[in-house]
Amino acid sequence: MSHGPAVDGGDPLTRAALAYLASGAGARLLAAAELPADPWRLQEQLRQHHPAAWCRAAAALVELRRRGRDKFAAAAAMFFDRAGLEMATGEAVAAHRAARFDAGSRVLDLCCGIGGDLLALAVGRTVVGVDAERRRIDMARLNADALGRNGVRLVVADAQELRLRGDAVFIDPARRTRSGRRQRSGEDYQPPLSWAVRVARQIPATAVKVSPAIAEDELPAEAEVEWVSWRGQCREAGLYFGPLATARRRATVLPAGATLVDEPTAAPVPVAPPGPVLYDPDPAVVRAHLIEPLARQLGAWRLDPQLAYLCSDRAQPTTLASVYRVLAWVPFQLKRLRQLLVAEGWQPVEGRKRAVATEPDELRRRLGPLPAGRPVILVHTRLAQGPIVGICENGSG
Ligand SMILES: C[S@@+](CC[C@H](N)C(=O)[O-])C[C@H]1O[C@@H](n2cnc3c(N)ncnc32)[C@H](O)[C@@H]1O
Repeated sequence: MSHGPAVDGGDPLTRAALAYLASGAGARLLAAAELPADPWRLQEQLRQHHPAAWCRAAAALVELRRRGRDKFAAAAAMFFDRAGLEMATGEAVAAHRAARFDAGSRVLDLCCGIGGDLLALAVGRTVVGVDAERRRIDMARLNADALGRNGVRLVVADAQELRLRGDAVFIDPARRTRSGRRQRSGEDYQPPLSWAVRVARQIPATAVKVSPAIAEDELPAEAEVEWVSWRGQCREAGLYFGPLATARRRATVLPAGATLVDEPTAAPVPVAPPGPVLYDPDPAVVRAHLIEPLARQLGAWRLDPQLAYLCSDRAQPTTLASVYRVLAWVPFQLKRLRQLLVAEGWQPVEGRKRAVATEPDELRRRLGPLPAGRPVILVHTRLAQGPIVGICENGSG
């Protein structure tokens, strides 16, 4: 291990810096670096007791630990580099995925990074984590130790060069270029998606994390695809092969844990005019193209075959969609909409839109100032007959 300090301007979290920060002296440095203070003065003080390069590394890690709290409850005790943290799967999503692997199995995590997925897989399973970057393996080791994950082995290697032996495989390929740009095609992932599909032929219980925006024609016919949203944002999709596949398409909404699967033989959902209850499906449901199974579950109809909004007569509580009670549906005409809002004493405080260009904030700006009144949500969309607006309130009751 090289113990040279970081080159000025480069990433201060070198392997040597990590080794220092993981030591007793490093723990004292990190505790001091966390104190709220002017960053320049703090650095000056820290440098009286620790080498300057490690002080810079401590400041960088403290900042990453702060950002990491969004993904990991134990972020304050973990080790990250910036890209490693950004690419890491947050613990709620990782736990959901890990639960799809058999308890007690031996799982190969073939692009383990700083260990986001590894830490979840290692609960009740033995895991071999592999990453091509030595520094990430150092971080995964430190993180596994910090969280008391005992059944973890870590290997620095190009996963494509290994002879694979295990009960199951998880692969989370790097999906961004060195400059941070996201790769769209699975063939540009590192390692490429076609390699991951070949691994699944060798070890059937394989799962692969892919972009939620993956093109339909890149989805392997033999895999289940699960789109997962976390706090209303669909950030990832997973391919599940062999015994891990339990549907063709699935949408899962976290933290609620609600899940919906495709129903290939079900009758199409009717299309009908807008009704008194409006459902705006979660982004995972929309991405998974599971609007119709959701409509059947809610006893709802579609407003248009191309539109994700659903309507029904009676509101049904669900975590798979936002539910609105509609006070009025009107053809969209700015002046008339304004008149109606004023006449009824309705005050738009939020907006939603689909299939129209105008952003909700822009629509409210164009409506101009309105007298204070009952807060409403404007849902702006387009049907075959033209644009319409639903004036709504939140609620499933
Ligand atoms: C998206 S990150 C993994 C994130 C990880 N699942 C987590 O939750 O922390 C992808 C990782 O793949 C590694 N990688 C890329 N190509 C690789 C290869 N051929 N063999 C092994 N690791 C590779 C990168 O170094 C990077 O750490």
